[in-house]
Amino acid sequence: MNIIVTGGAGFIGCNFVYYELEKHPEDRIICLDKLTYAGNLKSLDEAMKSPSFRFVRGDICDRETVEKLFEEEHPDIVVNFAAESHVDRSVEDPGLFLRTNILGTQTLLDACRKYGIGRYHQVSTDEVYGDLPLDRPDLFFTEQTNIHTSSPYSASKAGADMLVLAYHRTFHVPVSITRCSNNYGPYHFPEKLIPLMITHALNDEKLPVYGNGENVRDWLYVEDHCAAIDLVMRRGREGEVYNVGGHNERTNLQVVKTVLKELNKPESLITFVKDRPGHDRRYAIDPSKIHSELGWLPATGFDEGMRRTVKWYLEHESWWKDILAGDYQDYYEHMYGNRGQA
Ligand code: NAD
Ligand code: TYD
Repeated sequence: MNIIVTGGAGFIGCNFVYYELEKHPEDRIICLDKLTYAGNLKSLDEAMKSPSFRFVRGDICDRETVEKLFEEEHPDIVVNFAAESHVDRSVEDPGLFLRTNILGTQTLLDACRKYGIGRYHQVSTDEVYGDLPLDRPDLFFTEQTNIHTSSPYSASKAGADMLVLAYHRTFHVPVSITRCSNNYGPYHFPEKLIPLMITHALNDEKLPVYGNGENVRDWLYVEDHCAAIDLVMRRGREGEVYNVGGHNERTNLQVVKTVLKELNKPESLITFVKDRPGHDRRYAIDPSKIHSELGWLPATGFDEGMRRTVKWYLEHESWWKDILAGDYQDYYEHMYGNRGQA
């Protein structure tokens, strides 16, 4: 099969490229990525050596580029990871999120309609369900939970999901959607919580925790997410949504303390800073549908996943140091420079 992976130079996308090359060596993987600040060709160094892999630099919003790729590659599956993915950036520039996440999805869906496709798979997020209260540990997101978004990021992802389902109903495009909880693991861009805390702790810099650090996220090791997407895009039912998560809820403070413990660094590095506007309180996934229909279960628990992740950052210093040495510094100064203490 020919599989187009959009956004394959980003965090989850590149992990997925490696997962597919290893698990399905008979398939050909074509990565389409614009290489925004979040895309990193270095993350695909090993994939570039494989004859089953092709990298194309291009924008999913650019119809001509997308159509040319469909004409060249006749994809059987398109899996869309390409997105603006950071909530804090969406607060700064919502328009960019609408363009990439919604109009980019539409461009891909139009190409699927025009050229035909075996499956279009949309990589979505549990953030489309909004948040859950902190004092109701009995509540979880199911596929029936109402869409109720908080940030421009989650609103753009929800818009894209609606479009995907509309193209299925109206134009019979064979689609599927996965909505996953927070991922962590290798190649995670250091603006996100876990890699930011690892890289700061390694540099003995302050660890900025938003608000009181009691917000809860449901963490999944990235390889488990890749396995779930692989199963759904090949065997999941058309037109269906599958939630993905591994019941690994932690407060942000617990996560940060785990990082410090792994690195043997003092908790005095923690500093509480001004909260994120609209900050979602708790995410928690009920993954029973993907488990009962497709047999998916996460293979890596939180402690093991965190050990592996910290080890990866220790062993790949040049990967993240190059990022920290570039434009990212300006972003950090802009977002955190005047944030002050909580
Ligand atoms: P990321 O920001 O690390 O990577 C995004 C990739 O998309 C980058 O390589 C970037 O260059 C590329 N890209 C951006 N705009 C593009 C465009 N217009 N055309 C082509 N390529 C473009 O994101 P990630 O964390 O790997 O997330 C991947 C997907 O998974 C996103 O759709 C995100 O919403 C979803 N998701 C992420 C998480 C998480 O915890 N990171 C959880 C659930 C779902
Ligand atoms: P993040 O990694 O941005 O993912 P998301 O907002 O999509 O869940 O943030 C995870 C949690 O960590 C979220 O509750 C915000 C919090 N956070 C901090 O406390 N400090 C930080 O510097 C960052 C980036 C996030």
